Amino acid sequence: MFIDIVSVFPEYFRSLDLGLFGKAIERGLVEVRTHNLRDWTHDVHHSVDDTPVGGGAGMVMKPEVWAECLDDLLDLAPRGMTGGTSGSKNTKNAGDASAPAIPRAEDPEHGVDPDPKDTDSPILIFPNPSAPLFTQHDATELSQAKRLVFGCGRYEGYDARIPTYYASQGIDVHEYSIGDYVLNGGEVAVSVMLEAITRLVPGFMGNPESIVEESYTGGDALLEYHQYTKPAVWRGLAVPDVLISGDHGKVDRFRRDEALARTSELRPDLVERLDCCTLSKQDRRT
Ligand code: ADE
Repeated sequence: MFIDIVSVFPEYFRSLDLGLFGKAIERGLVEVRTHNLRDWTHDVHHSVDDTPVGGGAGMVMKPEVWAECLDDLLDLAPRGMTGGTSGSKNTKNAGDASAPAIPRAEDPEHGVDPDPKDTDSPILIFPNPSAPLFTQHDATELSQAKRLVFGCGRYEGYDARIPTYYASQGIDVHEYSIGDYVLNGGEVAVSVMLEAITRLVPGFMGNPESIVEESYTGGDALLEYHQYTKPAVWRGLAVPDVLISGDHGKVDRFRRDEALARTSELRPDLVERLDCCTLSKQDRRT
């Protein structure tokens, strides 16, 4: 999977070198290139924002700068007219000559296809507190993509015409909120989405089984049951007896009941979304 991240603070993404993500980069499973949006500016101040049309507080990110950057990354601009080639200065593992070439939109084999199911087409993603909520379902879908391009907004956000324009050019564009709160910029939101997406890329997790029974996962997308490890009794608190009974059928039933009970209590909205066929007769007793 090829990932481009555009931000005015590309240093935010240094942490991607850590842990499982870092290992995935080392193994060539994911390739991340971070770009500083200011590399596509032409003025001495490298300004990326301007006052909002119609008035109001704060600043809005300018469409021209974003367009020069995204045209470059998506290879939409005519050859010879692209600016900001220095954007690759901040690439993470792009300097590796052995790294596979990034599929380009103009490549006949990887051309922009309006069909989002074409996993070779780049997908452009903007975090935005006013967008639909990013879910595990979105993470699962996006984990099948070959190329993701993230644009991190700052200030009061980015000019609304940017996503509209790229969608009109046949690019699959998504805007997502990661929760009902406002952050200072899109960097943290992109980190969250990136982790949720890439851990679902086949080969990313050491043990693929560990993502099978997680919260929000699978056909019924319930919250996960509680997990325990040894010792069986710790500071006077015992793990449920059934978990040390050795009866796998009973353990499975106990966990399923707990997942149903927790979801009903904490996230009734998830239970309401279940269709009638997802719950068995035994589930309904819970
Ligand atoms: N940018 C600022 N707040 C955000 C949020 N909650 N989700 C996504 N992007 C954001």
